[in-house]
Amino acid sequence: MGGVFIKPVTKLGGEIKVPGDKSISHRAALFGGMAHGETHVSNFLLGEDCLSTLRCLKQLGVSWERQETEVWIRGEGMGAWQEPIDVLDAGNSGTTLRLMLGALAGSPFTVTMSGDESLRSRPMRRVTDPLKQMGAQIMGRREGNLAPITMKGGQLQGQSFRTAVASAQIKSAIILAGLRAQGETSVEEPALSRDHTERMLRGFGVDVQSDRTVARVHGGGRLNGQAVSVPGDISSAAFFLVLGSLVGQGEIILPDVGVNPTRTGILDVLRAMGADIELLDSSEICGEPRATLRVRPAKLKGIEISGDMIPRLIDEIPILAVAASLAEGETVIRDAAELRVKETDRISTVVKGLNALGAKVEELPDGMRIQGQTTLYGGQASSFGDHRLAMAWAISGMLSREGVSVEDMEAADVSYPEFLTVIKKVAG
Ligand code: S3P
Repeated sequence: MGGVFIKPVTKLGGEIKVPGDKSISHRAALFGGMAHGETHVSNFLLGEDCLSTLRCLKQLGVSWERQETEVWIRGEGMGAWQEPIDVLDAGNSGTTLRLMLGALAGSPFTVTMSGDESLRSRPMRRVTDPLKQMGAQIMGRREGNLAPITMKGGQLQGQSFRTAVASAQIKSAIILAGLRAQGETSVEEPALSRDHTERMLRGFGVDVQSDRTVARVHGGGRLNGQAVSVPGDISSAAFFLVLGSLVGQGEIILPDVGVNPTRTGILDVLRAMGADIELLDSSEICGEPRATLRVRPAKLKGIEISGDMIPRLIDEIPILAVAASLAEGETVIRDAAELRVKETDRISTVVKGLNALGAKVEELPDGMRIQGQTTLYGGQASSFGDHRLAMAWAISGMLSREGVSVEDMEAADVSYPEFLTVIKKVAG
């Protein structure tokens, strides 16, 4: 058996400071590079994804310095961006590729963006189609759907768009292009996706209007450098919320976690399943709510998760599926076909992985049906290079009877490089 072996635990406890939010770190770096003046980012996520965004900015001529999790970006506005002399490599990061394309659509030069094997198989027409309609010239494999994507930006015209799926990456790419377009640009989505772009752009001095599922900007807005303090990532905290709920004994405290309502579906669903999670010390910094989370063991029961709830917890579905397999009764997840185009096809990889560990999970076209209260015997599970799967299988190992050997555990570096060190510490 290869991989990293994760032993079962019955007791744990302590305080875990989860790393900075991935979505917010990307935006802080990118908007800092688009702005005029210095942007100082604290608690920046040092995951591979956000480092890809920083590297792409350097290739565009943006200068920045980093010391540990602090980043100083010396923005000179988007007009100072230069044509990169090589391909911009977004690595595994859909956010880097899609948001950068939006930001670059108004630049009068040619840029090619690509990424790793997973990213090169993920759909890009959802972003390239609207950007083309606004005036950018874009070519890519499969009619502009797959990276490498080459774009020549230029004069853009504001438009109104209605997206087929609730996606913050699509919404953000369109808004960022809209900042450089003539007139107004608006995006309406079928349900509200995470709204960090709208909130942070306001902090940078841009007038972004939002009315429930519609966001609107006018072209010509100028971004001014800011201090951005990044809260802890609730998507990383989610692994410990599930672990702390299902382990035999102990209490976990997670200080300073972002609790933006567009991201807290995991809290609502776990609580509806019976979890004992409390929010302490709530505050708001840089337009983003945050709180300390306390989780204690509880009996969980199955639930139906569907509709507008899905975008509020889309990245947490792998670990929620682990929770559901140990809860009492059935859990059904629907309306989550978006999972099929994440870092892996997370419907298929989660179902396969959990069944191999002893759970009873049935694949549905847009989700899964999980029979709860199964024993997770343990065994071997692969991350398939997907960070959230690597961490979900490690938590399954801690909650299993015999432990789990996780193949390609290093994938966790994309969003949580210290994950293994942290679980060793809480397990004593
Ligand atoms: C993200 C948006 C979501 C999410 C991804 C990060 C973002 O993707 O799954 O991990 O930072 O905007 P979609 O916008 O494709 O749903």
